[in-house]
Parts: sequence; structure tokens; C-alpha cells
Amino acid sequence: MTVLVEQPELELEVVEKKVDVEENELLLDGGFVVPETNSFGQTFRDYNAESERQMSVEQFYRTNHINQTYDFVKRMREDYGKLNRVEMSIWECCELLNEFVDESDPDLDEPQIEHLLQTAEAIRKDYPNEDWLHLTGLIHDLGKVLLHPSFGALPQWAVVGDTFPVGCAFDESIVHHKYFKENPDYYNSAYNTKYGVYSEGCGLNNVMMSWGHDDYMYLVAKENKSTLPSAGLFIIRYHSFYALHRAGAYEHLMNEEDVENLKWLKIFNKYDLYSKSKVRIDVEKVKPYYLSLIKKYFPEKLKW
Ligand SMILES: [Fe+2]
Ligand SMILES: [Fe+2]
Repeated sequence: MTVLVEQPELELEVVEKKVDVEENELLLDGGFVVPETNSFGQTFRDYNAESERQMSVEQFYRTNHINQTYDFVKRMREDYGKLNRVEMSIWECCELLNEFVDESDPDLDEPQIEHLLQTAEAIRKDYPNEDWLHLTGLIHDLGKVLLHPSFGALPQWAVVGDTFPVGCAFDESIVHHKYFKENPDYYNSAYNTKYGVYSEGCGLNNVMMSWGHDDYMYLVAKENKSTLPSAGLFIIRYHSFYALHRAGAYEHLMNEEDVENLKWLKIFNKYDLYSKSKVRIDVEKVKPYYLSLIKKYFPEKLKW
């Protein structure tokens, strides 16, 4: 099934350059200790090393901020929430995603499956008893299959990048906030106030987030009745929500459960970045362990 998404020329250009700006560590550095250099000998997230690439990131966010409206997110959630595209296991999805290498991510020169396993294995080392967190590390980015033709080959701006709530005012801590002035919701009085369509402490699970791999994987896990604890689902859905976990914005929408889950998300995010250093993983060696976790927390086949 193909999903029609309006594609201005600007965005096609970004897609061609394959800019992956999933996390935005350069602009929103949280200050935790990470290895000083990546596998290319450059500092992490050093987009300044290549000003052309930095331009592309800015263009990426402009397109993202213009197009991620309340109506757009609602349509995508309704459409993808049907989960009528593919049936496959979690591991099959890891392999499918492995076809994509993030050529443009300045910190990654390995297939996605290595990033996923590096994240999971790094967490496992420090939190050996939290098996749900190991599995969350493995699956947190699987929603990137939205880039694949079987999933509508969505443009990058609708798959990766920092995420943020729609339906209420865009917080100024969101990267390249100025481009929201070109988003129609910015002028809609139903959506441009502090609470917008939400209310104090309503809980983040009642808040619509900009559409991308995070929200999609959350829908897949939830609708397929994963038994992951709520902190795992929280990490999957909000791991790119930097305005929340780096800047502390939108706390007025959180409930008590969100406050607890946010602690785990902050732990998780250290590993998501740290794991992009060159620690090679023997996939075949660790595979049986992760297959056992998948079996524990997911049905054999999932609807996607
Ligand atoms: Fe991600
Ligand atoms: Fe990631």
C-alpha cells in the first residue's frame, strides 16, 4: 500500500542525500561522558566538519517542521495503525532494516543491526537483570522500516529526526524552532496554546507526537500485545523526544507514570549514543539470547 505524502522538491533533495538525523546530539548535548571520537576519528555529531551536510540537516528540519501538522499525524496514525502491510517476526524486521545502512549518519559506518545490538549489549553489560531493557535496545529503531518500499517508502522527514507533540504550542527548545512559523498549526488557535487540545497532567500517551519511527514502533508493539513493561514502550515512543528528555519541556502534560518512565529513558539514551562507537558484535553469537527475549515479550509473528 502506498501512502500519499506531499513531497516538496526541497525534501526530495534531502532524501537523496540520505540525511539521517535521528538524534541531535550536537545541538542538544546533554553532557554525559561519551567516547571522544567515532570510527572516523571525528568528534561525535560534528556536522561542522562538513558544512554542506549541516545545511542539509537544517533543510531536513525545515521540511519536517512545515509538514508535521496535527492532521498529518492523525492521518498517519490511522493509516499505519491498521497494521495491514506485512506480517513478520521481530528478528525478520531486524534483518529487513539491516538492508539500510545510514550512510549519512556521521557516526555510523555499520549496518543498523550492529547499532541495535551494540545498544542492547552495552545496556546488558551494565543492567544484566533488566532483560526488557536489552530487548528495548534491540528494537527501538525498527520503525525505520517506514523508509522501505513495502511500508510506503516514507521520506526521511516523516521517519527520523527529533520528535515533538502536535496539537499544542511548539516549545522553543525544539531544534530549528523558527521553521514552525511555516507550519499551519502555528496559526491555529486550537493548537497553538500551551495546552492546546490537551490538559494538565493528561499523560503523554494521550498526546500525539510528530510522526516517525518512534511512534510507529510503539503502535506495532502495543497493538501486537507486547508484554514489555510500560517503561519499555515509553522508551520506544519517546527516544527522539529531545525537548522532553534534554530540555525538560512539556512536563505539564506528564502524569506520574511518565515521570517514572522518564528516568529509564534518560538511562537508555546514553547507550543509544555511546553504542555508536566501534564495538563489533558477533551477531550469530548473541542471536540466541535475543531470540529468547523476543519469545518472552512478543508473539511469534507481528502485524506491521
Ligand atoms: Fe531512533
Ligand atoms: Fe537508535
